[in-house]
Amino acid sequence: MSDHIKIGIFDSGIGGLTVAKEIKKTLGNPPMIYYGDTAHLPYGDKSKESIVFYCQKITEFLINKGCTHIVVACNTASAYGFSSLQKKIKTSIHLFNVIDPVVDYVAACDNLNKIGVIATKGTTISRVYPRRIKKKNKSLVVRSVAAPLLAPMIEEGFYNNNISQTIINSYLSKKELQNIEGLILGCTHYPLIESEVKKYYENKVRIFNSAKIVAKSLSVKIKSSQKTKQSKSLFYVSDYTESFQKSAKKFFGEEIDLIKNNIW
Ligand code: DGL
Repeated sequence: MSDHIKIGIFDSGIGGLTVAKEIKKTLGNPPMIYYGDTAHLPYGDKSKESIVFYCQKITEFLINKGCTHIVVACNTASAYGFSSLQKKIKTSIHLFNVIDPVVDYVAACDNLNKIGVIATKGTTISRVYPRRIKKKNKSLVVRSVAAPLLAPMIEEGFYNNNISQTIINSYLSKKELQNIEGLILGCTHYPLIESEVKKYYENKVRIFNSAKIVAKSLSVKIKSSQKTKQSKSLFYVSDYTESFQKSAKKFFGEEIDLIKNNIW
């Protein structure tokens, strides 16, 4: 592996900035290029065919910008588009998704008998989490629940209030999620509602925040000499609005400038 790295990260919108934020923290500010496909948001309701097309086009864009590592920072895109990327993209590019590191982590945890997953409709219908976790840990029961209102609600900046807590509670109180010992936040928007989820469970259920787990696993795969290369990161979106710009700070944890670049 050469010492030059540039990390390309993409999501349907700005939710994947939660992953970019953790990567920055864990890897010491590596050069990053982010692409938020805000023109096609949300991916959670799109067909597999569309998601495969979006993933390929964005990945080509990031490779043309010199990215050596690509992180699909969207669970829905990881569920539907990742395997086609693995087949299409040349082997010198390192590809990562946000599902496998979480599957590995959770499957190896002690003291878990039943866990839940909340995610978009697309990720839930794909059954990617139950299938992959079962392969690694046969005895762990995994129940997933689609929570389609959450990503748009968070993207609007609508969280940490009474109404968002009520919506979150109504998903978490579904019968599939009764008596769980852990919950996977299966959408890269959800780290922003982690405290509300914890509040519902009164800290009695382990919450798996995929952004943190993914950044750790990426960090293990990148050599320590590559981690110190600091550089300015660039953040592109396919459609720009003031509201995306405002929310970006909440997801990334600091002020960033979104640059409109419509590759479609
Ligand atoms: N952030 C995306 C994910 O992790 C979901 C948002 C969307 O539906 O576009 O699945």
